[in-house]
Amino acid sequence: MAFFISPKIVFGKGVLKRLGSELGNDGAKVAIITDKTMAQHVGTLKEALQEFGYQVKIWDGAEPEPSLDLAAEGGRFLSEFSPQWVAAFGGGSAIDTAKASWILYERPDIEVGELYKAANPKAKLGLRKKASFMAVPTTSGTGSEATWAVVLTDKKKNRKVAFANNEIVPDIALLVPEFTAGMPKSVTAGTGMDVLGHALDGYTARQQTDFSDGLCLQAIGMCLEWLPKAFQNGDDLEARAKMQNAAAIAGIGFGNSNTSLCHALAHSLGVAFKMPHGRAVGLALTYSLDYIASTAPISGAPNPVERLATVARFVGINETDAQAAIDALLDKIDSLKKEIQEPITLSDAGISEEKFASQLENLVLGAAKDVNMYSSPCECKDDALEHLFRKMFSGR
Ligand SMILES: [Fe+2]
Repeated sequence: MAFFISPKIVFGKGVLKRLGSELGNDGAKVAIITDKTMAQHVGTLKEALQEFGYQVKIWDGAEPEPSLDLAAEGGRFLSEFSPQWVAAFGGGSAIDTAKASWILYERPDIEVGELYKAANPKAKLGLRKKASFMAVPTTSGTGSEATWAVVLTDKKKNRKVAFANNEIVPDIALLVPEFTAGMPKSVTAGTGMDVLGHALDGYTARQQTDFSDGLCLQAIGMCLEWLPKAFQNGDDLEARAKMQNAAAIAGIGFGNSNTSLCHALAHSLGVAFKMPHGRAVGLALTYSLDYIASTAPISGAPNPVERLATVARFVGINETDAQAAIDALLDKIDSLKKEIQEPITLSDAGISEEKFASQLENLVLGAAKDVNMYSSPCECKDDALEHLFRKMFSGR
């Protein structure tokens, strides 16, 4: 059985003025979950909600790489306040913290350490008996406002805990471009490359469908056009809105397909070199695409050469030969990276040869066991993986 799932996306001019009617306009309690850096910006959302008679309470305990303990703390805050809406305000970490806290509020019988088992893709969680969920992103990257996934960190066992369930997809993704205008250039660049990685992974993944394809293509085109503009001028609200839309569109796209080889490589880079996720995705992107374009696909997988040639045509590359079109597409992505000051190679990213050599085995092992590898249209392991990481160090 296949299905397509999406939150209601609320966006466009005057969106905050329509908030009351979107949420039911019944003066209910709204709990906002955010982090300390965003707490100073949350006032606009709070005031908009209060104008419609909502009781609002803010918890600003979310942190980057949110831990299980933090999610439990958020869950306790929600239980004490007992809201009818949970609103996540922030980047992917704040949204993931809020999603996990919301599940614990709805299901106090679940121990936080058991969340990954309880919220597996096939489980019937029975959410929304107490509250609905709204995500208000302040970065344009993870797409968490539109996806079914949560990533937390188990600090005691020093490992990531990821889980996904259809019921976790937010009811509403509220897109307000002004909330992303404060992002520094480096965050704009990194999160933007994450969007491009989601869309290209989602378009080439084994699980792609007719429904995810259109969204992924649209997000790819928007990133290539609007990311440089958002990077050059963070106050350009049209560019901010386009990248915010692209992040959500890619989120729905890969949320109904999957992230793939690029993300498997990027997760391994992130662990080995403590590299921010978006930068790692940007680095891995052209190498992973080059690999799938030159490797025979797994039986039943979409043909990466046909797929990437379609992407190339969609973004205006007029090469009739498929391989020439793909080469031009990869050059276009490298040009984008240069324009937004993102590294092309691991060496550009400041990784020394010694550091790279000391981590090579871990890089290969980490990528090989990453869950995203399952979605790759081409097998990639052992020597092929090592070769790929070596190329990433010195260049294509
Ligand atoms: Fe990502």
